[in-house]
Amino acid sequence: MTPDPITLPQEFADAQAIARERLGIFKDRILCYSEVGSTNDIAGTFAEQGVDEGLVVLADRQTAGRGRLGRSWASPSGAGIYVSVVLRPSAAAARLVTIAAGVAVTDGIASATGLSTHVKWPNDVHVSGRKLAGILAEGAASHVVLGLGINVQPAAYPPDVAQRATSIEAELGRPVDRGLVLADCLAALASRYRELHENRGAGIVEAWRMRASPMLGRRVEWESAGERHTGLAENIDDDGALIVKVGAGTLRIRSGEVRWL
Ligand code: BTN
Repeated sequence: MTPDPITLPQEFADAQAIARERLGIFKDRILCYSEVGSTNDIAGTFAEQGVDEGLVVLADRQTAGRGRLGRSWASPSGAGIYVSVVLRPSAAAARLVTIAAGVAVTDGIASATGLSTHVKWPNDVHVSGRKLAGILAEGAASHVVLGLGINVQPAAYPPDVAQRATSIEAELGRPVDRGLVLADCLAALASRYRELHENRGAGIVEAWRMRASPMLGRRVEWESAGERHTGLAENIDDDGALIVKVGAGTLRIRSGEVRWL
């Protein structure tokens, strides 16, 4: 059963109101919960019930937050932004939705806080060699639920991932306004999503490449058919697949796990 939403906390309400003109499809419907299992599940349920695209589901805390590839996403109260949006992209736009989201989160964090981050294929946001945000796209034929997890305070990640994770406040050494971060990320996502539907995906791929420059040219490792392979991450193609140089040839990796060495 879906829990009852709560009133949007002031820090989010104020920022949403100020950013309203920039929020596009996300300007009208934001549901906030004090605690849910996963905001992706709540958004997915609404999507299956036929809700229009643009619904935003925000939670203060998740008890079963999930990441890619079956991992969990630590989601303690107040320490991060845990949000999912319902999209109904065309088939062409759907291919680049997570790439667009990576660019949007990077840009939203920069405009709200001044912190410069970069993207790491397929959809992680990194700074100083550590992960700061992740994106989980889950879809059905009729919709995509895009879940964004952004570490705002160090408490957002458990000690066992402390070596690999960071937060906006840890990087900046000062408190930041979560409302502003969310509003700027949603505004950037609305704008990139509009570009996707205006057949301007090439510009998004180009923006992604610029924000991924510290990662491109690095060695990556992955498994396929039970074997370990390595190569040099060269680029992403126009569909968002990772192009890896292996020996004299190149390989296209569409999904799955890639380890950056
Ligand atoms: C990853 O990097 O593995 C993706 C992490 C995505 C986490 C967010 S938090 C909001 C939404 N709800 C979830 O359960 N997961 C996503």
